[in-house]
Amino acid sequence: MRSDLRIVFVEDSPWDAELEERELRKGGLQFDSMRVWTREDCVRALKEFKPDLIISDYSLPQMDGLAVLKMAGEICPNVPFIFVSGTIGEERALESLKRGATNYVAKDQLKGLTTKVRRALKEAEEREEKRCLEEQLREAQKMESIGKLAGGIAHEFNNLLTPIIGYSELVLNEIRNDDPLRQHIEEIKKAGERAASLTRQLLAYSRKQVLQPRVLDLNAVIAELDKMLRRLIGADIELVTRLAPELGRVKIDPSQIGQIVINLAVNSRDAMPQGGKLTIETTNAQLDEAYARKNVAVTPGQYVLLSVSDTGCGMDAQTQSRVFEPFFTTKEIGKGTGLELSMVYGIVKQSGGDIWVYSEIGRGTVFKIYLPRAEGVLSR
Ligand SMILES: Nc1ncnc2c1ncn2[C@@H]1O[C@H](COP(=O)(O)OP(=O)(O)OP(=O)(O)O)[C@@H](O)[C@H]1O
Ligand SMILES: [Mg+2]
Repeated sequence: MRSDLRIVFVEDSPWDAELEERELRKGGLQFDSMRVWTREDCVRALKEFKPDLIISDYSLPQMDGLAVLKMAGEICPNVPFIFVSGTIGEERALESLKRGATNYVAKDQLKGLTTKVRRALKEAEEREEKRCLEEQLREAQKMESIGKLAGGIAHEFNNLLTPIIGYSELVLNEIRNDDPLRQHIEEIKKAGERAASLTRQLLAYSRKQVLQPRVLDLNAVIAELDKMLRRLIGADIELVTRLAPELGRVKIDPSQIGQIVINLAVNSRDAMPQGGKLTIETTNAQLDEAYARKNVAVTPGQYVLLSVSDTGCGMDAQTQSRVFEPFFTTKEIGKGTGLELSMVYGIVKQSGGDIWVYSEIGRGTVFKIYLPRAEGVLSR
């Protein structure tokens, strides 16, 4: 059970609150608590103290217990709520359960409080876990269907680009160098090639491209990219690499893992226009059952973790939830494609891995990529 547990006691009698606290501590619970009894203080406590549990008297001088329950339902609907009261009686107790209270305890039977609190906390934790999994599942389904759509279009589109580029080349071979039409046709060919590179990114996202995975040492890949990365990010950004010794191997297409590192580094550079620090780290990681249970996309096992973090502008929760969608960009129109991260996502998923972003506005961003550890001989 969490040790940073916070409990709000809505109780006008300091002695009663004290007794309840003592009972819970005796039962082995550690927590911070706050006691309130007026309406204003109660609202503030629920909003600012952010309790994990509310224990409330049923009859209070300013309001009745059901009013507290209603308030809690509006401010923090998922926080368990237990009535402790001498006056509640069977009928009102049932009524309070119907209105959303988690449980109730009579004041002369405080012995049962710890058990009920533990159960309430455990159930709340399980509900939260379930909600989190459902959200991930919805997210995964969304990415899957956008992937199908994007992949389908990209495929058809690519078929159209082949004759556009091909015929442009044929004409360019036929006409004279000083032909006034030459420049126009070169523009057509250039536009076709640019479009082809966009569709390649889309195909990467939708996992429709053919990969050539090989067993690799990620540290070697990163070391090789070092010079290029430094040039890419410029002198104002410090590059720090921390590569774990005895790093496990991974099986992935070598050009694609390079692409991933470069895409993430370029995004970090864009997020640090005034300079900052870009850190690339590798380490072995074991994802256990508990982790896998909380993350639908992960199978437990041995992984290699590649993390790329920056001290840039960071992003809010809404942006974070959309970064891997194709065409999602916060850049001005015409500036960004919004395809780089969706491509990274596609490659990681196709390689049996998982990607994960954590960011705080004004502080920076971390991308963590877990790739399954591979056995086998290095093929580079
Ligand atoms: N390291 C980062 N820090 C802050 N925001 C980021 C970071 N990486 C990505 N983002 C956000 O995710 C969005 C999508 O990134 P993505 O690389 O897919 O496209 P883009 O960078 O906008 O365009 P392009 O890559 O084509 O230049 C960005 O517009 C930005 O809002
Ligand atoms: Mg980008």
